[in-house]
Amino acid sequence: MKTIAVINLKGGVAKTTTAANMATLLGTKYQKNVLLIDNDPQGNASQFFDCYRKDEKCGAAKILDRERPGIFTDVAAGVDLINANMTLLEADNELRTSEDRQDNRFAEYMEKAASIYDYCIIDNPPAILICTINALCAADEVIIPVRLDNWSIDGVEVITEQIETLKALNSNLKIAGILLTDYKKSIENEAAEEWLRKNCKYNVFSRRIRHSDKAVSATYYKQPLETYSPRSAAATDYRKFMEEYTGTKKA
Ligand SMILES: Nc1ncnc2c1ncn2[C@@H]1O[C@H](COP(=O)(O)OP(=O)(O)O)[C@@H](O)[C@H]1O
Ligand SMILES: [Mg+2]
Repeated sequence: MKTIAVINLKGGVAKTTTAANMATLLGTKYQKNVLLIDNDPQGNASQFFDCYRKDEKCGAAKILDRERPGIFTDVAAGVDLINANMTLLEADNELRTSEDRQDNRFAEYMEKAASIYDYCIIDNPPAILICTINALCAADEVIIPVRLDNWSIDGVEVITEQIETLKALNSNLKIAGILLTDYKKSIENEAAEEWLRKNCKYNVFSRRIRHSDKAVSATYYKQPLETYSPRSAAATDYRKFMEEYTGTKKA
């Protein structure tokens, strides 16, 4: 099983959109068994797949507490989901003040999941919480979605530094690359992209995800883009990005 954490400490950079679409594509197009873990107390990935349950202790919180998480099966072809809500923040706060080791709960769970799934995709909150550290300690690879705006380049530096620090806990961890999301052509964005490609020491995926109004409505209607509007520019770009990422072409 390959575990991929989708992360950036900035909000609104398309982390959830990317995680949901990667999971859907790996399940539907690549016929893989995929576990999507919603690791953000906001529960947006859970909402995409109609698995948000406001008043029940969520699956991600249960993983932190070493309980068996509920699994929503086949939320898309080949995709199972572990949900999140605000109870994750409670579990996170409790674990933060506990004397026990705090960073290995996800990794322990992954050991069990590894025999069932080909991929585990973890959608993360825009903050380094205990649950985020857990995700990074369990992950093989990180994908950093970046929306080019004034402060995004600073953001890349902040998150990559954090990841480098966490390599002390997970020497396996690798930054697969930076994915430019919600991309709009403009002089400023072209300049920022050029700067990033030239100066960033990490891989910047060639494929950019273009801005697409359909992505906004897909979020509004709480559906993964690949289901809501497979022909939109953003859905097309996510398919192409997955070809680049997996190195496998799909018709
Ligand atoms: N390619 C895109 N084109 C247009 N809007 C997008 C695109 N990708 C994401 N968005 C929108 O940006 C907002 C933030 O996306 P989201 O995935 O929730 O970000 P994050 O998880 O990083 O907070 C959502 O409203 C989403 O619909
Ligand atoms: Mg999100």
